[in-house]
Amino acid sequence: MTTVSPRRTGRDRASTTQRLVQWLSGVALVSLAVLLIVLLYGRGAPQLVPAGLPDAGPITGWGLPVVSLLTDLAGIVVVGLLLAAAVLLPSPATGLSDAAAHATRLAARTAMVGAAAVLVEAVLTLSDLLGTPPSSVLAPSLLRSFLGQTAQGRGLLVQAALLVAVAGLARSANTSRGAAFATLVAVAALVPPALAGHSASSGSHELAVASLAVHVVAAALWVGGLAALAWAAFTERDDLRYAVPRFSTLAAWCFAAVALSGVVNAGVRLESVARLFTTAYGVLVLGKVLALGILGGFGWWHRQRTVERVAARAATTADRRTAARAFVSLAAAELTVMAATVALAVGLSRTPTPSSGELDTSQTTQLLGFPLPPAPTISRVAFGWVPDGFALTFLVLAAALYAAGVLALRRRGDSWPVGRTISWGAGLAVFAWASVGGLGLYSHVLFSAHMVAHMLLSMVAPIGLVLGAPITLALRALPGPRTPGELGPRQLLQAALHSRVANLVTHPLLALVLFVGSLYALYFTPLFPALMANHLGHVAMEFHFLAIGFLFFWVLVGVDPVPRRLPPIARVGLLFAAMPFHAFFSIALMSASTVLANDYYSGLDRPYRIDLLADQGLGGGIGWAMGELPIILVLGAVFVQWTRADRREAERFDREADRAAVRASDRAARGAAPAGDGDDALADYNAYLAGLAARDARTAEQPRPGR
Ligand code: HEM
Repeated sequence: MTTVSPRRTGRDRASTTQRLVQWLSGVALVSLAVLLIVLLYGRGAPQLVPAGLPDAGPITGWGLPVVSLLTDLAGIVVVGLLLAAAVLLPSPATGLSDAAAHATRLAARTAMVGAAAVLVEAVLTLSDLLGTPPSSVLAPSLLRSFLGQTAQGRGLLVQAALLVAVAGLARSANTSRGAAFATLVAVAALVPPALAGHSASSGSHELAVASLAVHVVAAALWVGGLAALAWAAFTERDDLRYAVPRFSTLAAWCFAAVALSGVVNAGVRLESVARLFTTAYGVLVLGKVLALGILGGFGWWHRQRTVERVAARAATTADRRTAARAFVSLAAAELTVMAATVALAVGLSRTPTPSSGELDTSQTTQLLGFPLPPAPTISRVAFGWVPDGFALTFLVLAAALYAAGVLALRRRGDSWPVGRTISWGAGLAVFAWASVGGLGLYSHVLFSAHMVAHMLLSMVAPIGLVLGAPITLALRALPGPRTPGELGPRQLLQAALHSRVANLVTHPLLALVLFVGSLYALYFTPLFPALMANHLGHVAMEFHFLAIGFLFFWVLVGVDPVPRRLPPIARVGLLFAAMPFHAFFSIALMSASTVLANDYYSGLDRPYRIDLLADQGLGGGIGWAMGELPIILVLGAVFVQWTRADRREAERFDREADRAAVRASDRAARGAAPAGDGDDALADYNAYLAGLAARDARTAEQPRPGR
């Protein structure tokens, strides 16, 4: 593809490797120095322990942060290399370019190093927790119970397993699609430690955990992506002409996400601005803000100096090399600051948080993850809120990506129906109220509120979202191939939509079974109490309701393309097939004589609505009444779509009739035989495909700097 130097001599390669090793050694020294300073300043370094008290010793005390830094950096590099292979470096549809193939192989090796480092980290973490040297925690039974029965141990085990899976996927990836899948798994491997570290024990549990997960993922895409591109240019495997403009857009999104999530996470720990200046943790957070500012400066400099130069059509290979070298020099300095910032982050995560001594440890707060709210009133249910970080992340991302898609179309001069944007916004607003709003707050406390939230999340919010046509918007706004035959992000999405999995899950019968089956599987099994009693379980329930609702209503009234489009009458039939199951379920709840999740609800010890069975009966009644709501909405939507489809069909017939008449008169004039029917539709379809291919071919050779 864009390989710059097909014939590099052995001496070239040796000198490149030597310079790379020199730079890596410098980065390692700077990072370790920053880590040391932060550990000493923030009191995360091993302390002198009076004789007789448990002490893990210096190997654990110093080794654990160093190994954590290694796992963080390995995870970041793996994500970056795979991201580069999947979407940044251009590859043909049938295989990977030389640079991308090298990137996946390097990612596979780094993932194995990362997995080994995670296992060492597990041993050191156990030694740290028990306050004994690492050699005394190596007993298999001890390690097994740590890895299997504690949140931290399980997080590390899952991370190691995911990294091994990534290594296998990366090694076997031979197309952009394979690399994209490996990237997703590599991103997932970053998350488990966020769920079990500092954040997991903080007051606003879900907000802390979700913001850290977003923070780490965004930082990895940004830092790792830059590292991978710098490596590709430095080793002269790719001239970055196509990769840099695309990375520049991604980096801007990541910068915003790192800043926002970092501030939210720090806010949860510090709880007041004053603590930024009066505590060691706060001062270190300020250090990160400074680092972000410096990195923002690098980004600005890149946009001013290197991005356009690298992306421009260079007159000679020498010009192209000079531009790539300028990019690499700046990126090398930037990456050094980034690695030092990650070292600062690791030191920060070992620094005691100022709020840790003031945690509310009451049973109610432990169960809910926040203090019990006062008795519900109309204004509290309408305007209250709960810091559910995962739902907030989803809301911000869903709104921002949709807005970016609409803006991209506008900039291109294309229109997007306002009704769809309003519908998407309405769907998100309903989701917001039922998850992070007052209703979401009381859904943790009262079964009746939980039922209203459930109905809204699975039956009202999804209707708004599917009518917002997000997939159609993505297909129109995502970039296509940059070089002829490349699989661009749009083609990757298309491939996912045409995959066997998509074909299976969008089968109307499966969508129906999931939609109604979830009700019975959740509430009439031990699943419900287990999920209610777990913070992440509650979040999983919310997203499950939304996802199955989205799937069901996508099949029913979705504007987006779906593998099997049902005729309107069958869609109405599908809706009516679901309703009796809802009604039976509600009646069963209303007449139940036992309380679902009794231990959880009685454990809350709330001083209001103390009759749990009555509250549950009310929930059943609400579920029954609200079951009618989607019927009205869906019938309305199907009716509108039906009449529009009829009108379009009639217009198409008119056009075809006109064209046929013109052709018939032409043929009559030439004295030729009449053509058979049916050619028109095929010709139209072929013309449409040819139009798309021509548009892609036109754009493929024109990289757009800065976009
Ligand atoms: C506004 C700027 C930033 C703020 C306020 C911020 C804040 C934070 C906070 C509070 C944590 C949690 C530490 C703990 O567990 O106690 C964290 C972790 C982290 N941050 Fe940042 N950060 C910022 C910028 C950055 C940047 C620019 C990067 C990378 C280039 C970065 C990379 C990381 C990483 C990798 C972690 C996870 C460390 C670990 O637990 O191993 N952060 N950050």
